[in-house]
Amino acid sequence: MDGILSFLSAELRADDTRKIGNIARANLYSRGIHGGMVTRHIISIGDFDRRQIDRLLDNAKRIDAQKYDKNALVGKILATLFFEPSTRTRMSFEAAMARLGGTSISVGSVEACSIAKGETLADTIRVVSGYADAIVIRHPKEGAARLAAQFASVPVINAGDGAGQHPSQTLLDLYTIRQSMKLDGISIALIGDLRYGRTAHSLASALSLYHAKLHTISPKGLELPTSLNTELSEKGMEITEHEDLRDVIKEVDVIYVTRIQRERFPDSASYFNVASSYRITPELLAGAKKHAIVLHPLPRVDEIDPRVDILPHAKYFEQSKNGVPVRMAMLLQVMQ
Ligand code: NCD
Repeated sequence: MDGILSFLSAELRADDTRKIGNIARANLYSRGIHGGMVTRHIISIGDFDRRQIDRLLDNAKRIDAQKYDKNALVGKILATLFFEPSTRTRMSFEAAMARLGGTSISVGSVEACSIAKGETLADTIRVVSGYADAIVIRHPKEGAARLAAQFASVPVINAGDGAGQHPSQTLLDLYTIRQSMKLDGISIALIGDLRYGRTAHSLASALSLYHAKLHTISPKGLELPTSLNTELSEKGMEITEHEDLRDVIKEVDVIYVTRIQRERFPDSASYFNVASSYRITPELLAGAKKHAIVLHPLPRVDEIDPRVDILPHAKYFEQSKNGVPVRMAMLLQVMQ
């Protein structure tokens, strides 16, 4: 696997690092032109403005209430290309497609497909575009989904690109928050690996559209990237860094916990330096607001004590379930 991935990164670097670097700046609903047709991609949460996010969440709510056409995507095919492990994202995209009457196809593992023979990502995407009506891609390299969109003749949805972005996760995070409270003006604690955690990056960006107050708490060296911090501050977002969740537990509405992204660490020693450095417990939550909710994109390792699971604050399993209606709304948006 390492060999294959390093081959891929070489290919991506060789192909266009400049374009990959543009991912953070990319804005607007991404569109590619292929043979005169407009192709809609979802690469970054920055592809949406607030009105578009609200509309998508409203659609997901209608879907959740069973108000949708169960045959809306009959005859359509979704290709899932996952070059990194996934349980929730991939299965909920596949479940979403099935609920709308469509079909999903995939290559199985990276080892089982022609990438292992040395095929470039660009060629794989060109080929898969001929088999499917949309492509969901997860890749260890930041910028890979944007690159894929440049070679695809069908819509591409980014299901996580390295330490970059994870827009579908953010949409379901926002959906889950909205089930408990109004999004506008919330106070949120983002805890954990804010450097490599793509869910944290996308969520922080989206919340800048909702006048949220952001409190960041991370182990040393895993702070929110300076470029993102500056970008969000320039948009008027209030961001405060803290050493400990206890400093803000009384005032936050949402506690968003993330896993340390071990797979993105240069070596295991630097991982073990920060591993298990924070943990949400019932004792800690005793100081939280009554209506405060705890979210986590999952999988969790040891960041949340399992005793938290039965508390009314714990919303992370509902959050992962919300992946289906939200991704149904996304699939309808790009394929209908
Ligand atoms: C997240 C990811 O892949 O970025 N998982 C997910 O999609 N729910 C979070 C993580 O892996 O820690």
